[in-house]
Amino acid sequence: MAMNLLGRSLLDIPDLRREEIVFLLTEAIKFKKKHSGTESILGSHVGKSVALLFFEPSTRTRTSFQMAAYRLGLRTLKLDSSSSSSQKGETIYDTARNVEALRPDAMVIRHAGSGIPLQISRLLKIPVINAGDGFHAHPTQALLDAFTIHEEFSEFKGLHVLIVGDIAHSRVARSNIHCLRTLGAKVTICGPPTLIPPLAREFGVEVSHNLDEILPSADVVMALRMQTERQNSFQIPSLKEYTTRYGITSERLLKIKDKALIMHPGPVNRGVEMMSSVLRDPRCRVLEQVQNGVTMRAVLLGHVLGVLK
Ligand code: CP
Repeated sequence: MAMNLLGRSLLDIPDLRREEIVFLLTEAIKFKKKHSGTESILGSHVGKSVALLFFEPSTRTRTSFQMAAYRLGLRTLKLDSSSSSSQKGETIYDTARNVEALRPDAMVIRHAGSGIPLQISRLLKIPVINAGDGFHAHPTQALLDAFTIHEEFSEFKGLHVLIVGDIAHSRVARSNIHCLRTLGAKVTICGPPTLIPPLAREFGVEVSHNLDEILPSADVVMALRMQTERQNSFQIPSLKEYTTRYGITSERLLKIKDKALIMHPGPVNRGVEMMSSVLRDPRCRVLEQVQNGVTMRAVLLGHVLGVLK
């Protein structure tokens, strides 16, 4: 069934109804099957463009939105904080208004301030897609993660997803919890008490501080990056102690189910959240997540811009 995503902004997962998430997953499966090559499927004849505003560093999200736009035959207009007039004191709101005046058809924005994409979406007439804002949300990451899980497990109901790490500072965790709970999975979050939000159980998740106890029951183990740029220095005794208690190590690989998936949104701090041996494990899907980011973002942009029907 087609869903009407045309002209809509995506600021966080609750903007989407369950049927719309399922629709995007189904479309992503079809798109990946149909367009398995690297060519631009529509050529450059669509005449539509998307502005990519990245005011925080990004490798995966920025390049996969660029690649997704290329796959759809869209033009991209790229701006980042280091080369923009924000360096001369222009506000992000004025920057967004001025970029909109160049007439792109949509704007993708990443910013360190939670809520900035929402505020911008209220100022602009074009759809705004949140590519990660502060601690708040990273909806397209959650969608591509759900897609990666869905490729392996057809049903979310009955699936146990374990999210381990710095939950308190993670927009990926927030959006993933919303998405996975909406799809029917059981979610456990695990980490040191200082890195778990005090009201975490209100998100409908289980909370654990003992990784070794919970690891054998997980169908998906999603490790998160230690967000040292957002933490204050007293939240954990040391990265070494964190790794001892919560890192995915070669020893802990033995406790993970044979059919489980091991995921990480990236960038990975090798030797902190996961050892290099984990990245080589056949259960690890870190690079598939990146590849699926192109597919999911192409499907989303395609339906928001009316390029895909
Ligand atoms: N997962 C993710 O958002 O990675 P980047 O910060 O490299 O975009």
